[in-house]
Amino acid sequence: MVPRHVAVIMDGNGRWAKKRLLPRSAGHRAGMKRMISLSEHIFDCGVEFCTLYALSTENLKRPQEELDGLFELFREYFIKNTQTLKKKGITLRIIGNLQLLPEDVREIIQKGEEETKGGTRGTLVLAIAYGARQEILSAVNRAIREGKEVSEESFSSLLSTEGIPDPDLLIRTGKEIRLSNFLLWQSAYTELYFTDKLFPDFTDKEFDKALKSYTERERRFGKVENKG
Ligand code: FPP
Repeated sequence: MVPRHVAVIMDGNGRWAKKRLLPRSAGHRAGMKRMISLSEHIFDCGVEFCTLYALSTENLKRPQEELDGLFELFREYFIKNTQTLKKKGITLRIIGNLQLLPEDVREIIQKGEEETKGGTRGTLVLAIAYGARQEILSAVNRAIREGKEVSEESFSSLLSTEGIPDPDLLIRTGKEIRLSNFLLWQSAYTELYFTDKLFPDFTDKEFDKALKSYTERERRFGKVENKG
C-alpha cells in the first residue's frame, strides 16, 4: 500500500557541496532543485501528505552567512513555486516558529499558504524553524493555560500538525541515523528509512527503493500478528 504521509529529513547538502569543492550555499541550491522534483514525484506516487524538514530550530544557530543564503532560497522558492503548486492542486502548510525568520520571509511564506489553500491533490508540509520538543512544550503549555486534561487525540490537535495524519514513512538522507528533533510525537509508529545518499543525490529512483522497503514491511502498531 502506498503510504498516505511521507516525511523526509533532507540532510547532506553541505557534504554534497564539499565533495565538489563548492560553497555550502551551492549544496542548498542543489537540494532545493532536488526537493522540487522529488515532491512532485512523491505526489505522483499517490502520497497525499509530504512533509519536508527544511530548517530546524537548531539550524538557526548556523553562521549568519549560511542562514542568509537559506533565507534567500526560501524567498526564491515561494515566489517562483506558489502558483505552480496552486495549479497542481497542492496545498502548502508550514510548521515551525515563523517568528524566528526575517519578517519579509515570514510574509512570503504566509502568502504561499494563503494562496494554495483548498488544493485537492495533496498537502506539502514544510518544516521551517521547526523543533519537535518546542512544539510539544508549546502544546503542553496551551493545555495548562486552558486548564485542559488531554488525551492522545486532543493533544495531537494542539500540535502544529493538527489535521495531518501521522507519517507512515520517514526517510532521512545523508548517513546519520537519528531523528534530530523532527516530528517526535507524530512518528511514534512511523516506519523509518535511512540512506547514505546525500540529499541532492537522493533521486526519484532512490525514493522508489524506500517506498518498496516500506511496502514490504508489516505494520502491527504494537499488536500481535494477525494469523486469521
Ligand atoms: C541539511 O543539510 C539541510 C538543510 C539545513 C537545509 C535544507 C534546505 C533545502 C533542501 C533547500 C531549501 C528549502 C526550501 C524550503 C526552499 P546540511 O547543510 O546539514 O548538510 P551537511 O550535514 O552535509 O552539512
